[in-house]
Amino acid sequence: MLTACDLAPEAVRRTRKRCAAFNSVSVIEADIRKGFPVSRVNLAVFSDVLYYLSRQEIASVLAEAARCVVPGGWMLFANEWNASYKSLTPPDYVVHLLHTRPEWRQVRLEVVPSAGPTTLTIAVFERT
Ligand SMILES: C[S@@+](CC[C@H](N)C(=O)[O-])C[C@H]1O[C@@H](n2cnc3c(N)ncnc32)[C@H](O)[C@@H]1O
Repeated sequence: MLTACDLAPEAVRRTRKRCAAFNSVSVIEADIRKGFPVSRVNLAVFSDVLYYLSRQEIASVLAEAARCVVPGGWMLFANEWNASYKSLTPPDYVVHLLHTRPEWRQVRLEVVPSAGPTTLTIAVFERT
């Protein structure tokens, strides 16, 4: 079962429409700062979302991820970054925080060029 969530109703509507043919996909309107919509997760994917959160909110979301991802499960974190994103939280902070947490073991970390001055950070962590 794949569960996707977003707090924006329009994003949820479009994703539901695009995934309508897939019975195993459910799309839920939810704010990840208030907890995850599912409590037992094999793979948690955060794609271009954590940079919208404050450092405190990121710490809280990662603690929720540690609670929900089963031991031996995975987290995939992907985030674009550009120096002009001044009001957002850089992906380095997420990676740094995960390095300080015994619940996570880094499997892979790549920072690759994206368009122009933008980079893409991709990190995979295993739940210990
Ligand atoms: C740049 S888009 C990325 C969309 C998609 N995850 C992707 O990788 O293509 C950021 C999305 O994060 C959602 N978002 C921002 N804060 C959120 C939160 N606290 N909980 C859930 N979704 C959030 C926004 O509504 C927006 O749709």
